[in-house]
Amino acid sequence: MIVTTKKLFAAAYGKYAIGAYNINNLEQTMGLFRGCIDSQAPFIIQISKGARSYTHKLMLEGLIRAADQVFPEAVFAVHLDHGDEASCIDCINSGFYSSVMIDASSNPFDKNIEITKRVVDAAHARGIVVEAELGMLGGVEEHVQVDEANALLTDPNQAREFVDRTGIDSLAVAIGTSHGAYKFSGTQGLHFDVLAEIQKRLPDFPLVMHGSSSVPQDEVERINAAGGKLLGAKGVDATQFKRAAELGVTKINIDTDGRLVWTRVHREYFRDHPEEFDLRPIGKLFMGEYAKFIAGKNEKLGSAGQLESVKKMLA
Ligand code: G3H
Ligand code: 13P
Ligand code: ZN
Repeated sequence: MIVTTKKLFAAAYGKYAIGAYNINNLEQTMGLFRGCIDSQAPFIIQISKGARSYTHKLMLEGLIRAADQVFPEAVFAVHLDHGDEASCIDCINSGFYSSVMIDASSNPFDKNIEITKRVVDAAHARGIVVEAELGMLGGVEEHVQVDEANALLTDPNQAREFVDRTGIDSLAVAIGTSHGAYKFSGTQGLHFDVLAEIQKRLPDFPLVMHGSSSVPQDEVERINAAGGKLLGAKGVDATQFKRAAELGVTKINIDTDGRLVWTRVHREYFRDHPEEFDLRPIGKLFMGEYAKFIAGKNEKLGSAGQLESVKKMLA
């Protein structure tokens, strides 16, 4: 069942975070649904602009509609990740997405508000909810590249004004994470002090943490042992998710860790089966590993085991 992120946030706020997972293809879609059913978790499917154009924007919609039938117990939102104004409007008009993110965070404050507000007006007119970003994460996003030195933490004093003037439904905050596999060099970590200040100014308002992959070191070692070259990769300590959730983080975005599962499975498989050329055995192996990975993440987010209570709340 497709629901808005707003409904999922109402159930989770202050208690646990909902996993928001990026998908690009059939195997990820199947693994994601399987992992969320196995762990009895509500979830958010995220589709980036790059994912929409990887094959055709209608292909992922078709996969998700089919998965909704294959897994009728699933409760999830469908969300555009890091949209610009044009892609947000396209998704709003599609009638399929329950939620969009407008990422105008690379603009000055007033311009970010102006663009975000236009998207909010269009989305709310169709019953669709909106996430926007204030501050700037380091790392690489599709249409924005920010190096660590230029990453800007969210200013708690601007957060309330941003929410009031835009009318958004959730706020993506920059508190020290970045996208990709190389998040922290040296001693950096999450800025819980900044998060606590934001929550003080926005009590009960759902916050979103991007760039939340953990980049597990055992995964990196297996990839490197099978011919990969991921040197110095480092991510967010997953034991901190629950603390973030208590401080108002209700959606936690994870993409890179799923890509690492894909990389490990494929590198090891072809190393160990040099004679193989059938795409299904490895596809099946990946779907199983991806499902396990998703279920494990949901445990760490606290969303595992929450499906029944969310369904009761929706009834
Ligand atoms: O924030 C970016 C997400 O990891 C999506 O990545 O734009 O390469 O699909 P992508
Ligand atoms: P990671 O690169 O840490 O997985 O972050 C994903 C993300 O924020 C998608 O919007
Ligand atoms: Zn992101």
